Amino acid sequence: MAFKHWPFVRDVRFAQKCGRFLRGARKRRGDLNWDEYLRIARHFKLDDMGSFPERGYLFQLASDLPAEAQVIEVGSWMGASTCFIAGGLKGTAAKIFAVDNFQGLSTCGEDAVWYERHFQKLGAKSTLEIFRQNFAELGFASRAEPVVNDSLAAATQLAAKRGTIDFVFIDGDHSYEACKADILAWVPFVKRGGVIAFHDFGSRADGVTRAIFEETKAGRFGQIVGVAGTIIAFRL
Ligand SMILES: C[S@@+](CC[C@H](N)C(=O)[O-])C[C@H]1O[C@@H](n2cnc3c(N)ncnc32)[C@H](O)[C@@H]1O
Repeated sequence: MAFKHWPFVRDVRFAQKCGRFLRGARKRRGDLNWDEYLRIARHFKLDDMGSFPERGYLFQLASDLPAEAQVIEVGSWMGASTCFIAGGLKGTAAKIFAVDNFQGLSTCGEDAVWYERHFQKLGAKSTLEIFRQNFAELGFASRAEPVVNDSLAAATQLAAKRGTIDFVFIDGDHSYEACKADILAWVPFVKRGGVIAFHDFGSRADGVTRAIFEETKAGRFGQIVGVAGTIIAFRL
């Protein structure tokens, strides 16, 4: 086991990195419940799908939504990003529709290999049970509705929700073609004044960057709300 994965070393690194992020976040946005963020971050201490600032930004975007907000996430994996969003929501009717095939099926070759390796390590065929367990352990079960489907099929399944969603977060298939198709499929779901955000903008997933860049130039999105790490958010 690599030195950085020793439990003691891992805990020290977590405390240092998360603590550093939280000191800045509490200064910047003292109005948000960063203790809740910390509770979720501790739960996902072993997760490596996003950085503290990226998770913090999702938490912030969700906290800034109106009460009873409706959210769609495309690409939930084991529910870490989903839980950070859930932690920021307010109201008993607030909900996240978590779209994922939960089998790591992706047209992005690099990702598909990574998922396959992870499923072997997990000894599981699906991440859905782990997703549900994470939500239950954090007390968010009533906020999540997993949509077990391919992204584009899910967009058809959820068609009645077009124009009603406060926040869409896309972190699914990272190929150029799939990201472009996701943008076309999911933008119509965002209500006027709502937010759409993407993970992996400007990351090694250059297809994602290209698709977002093209659609920005084409005027698909309104103003940029903010950027944190590789997350970019727009208000429509
Ligand atoms: C990078 S992971 C998501 C990580 C998660 N958002 C987080 O930060 O914790 C990408 C997920 O997208 C899912 N996925 C990839 N292509 C998809 C597609 N076409 N339809 C639905 N889900 C897809 C994979 O199964 C995987 O769980």
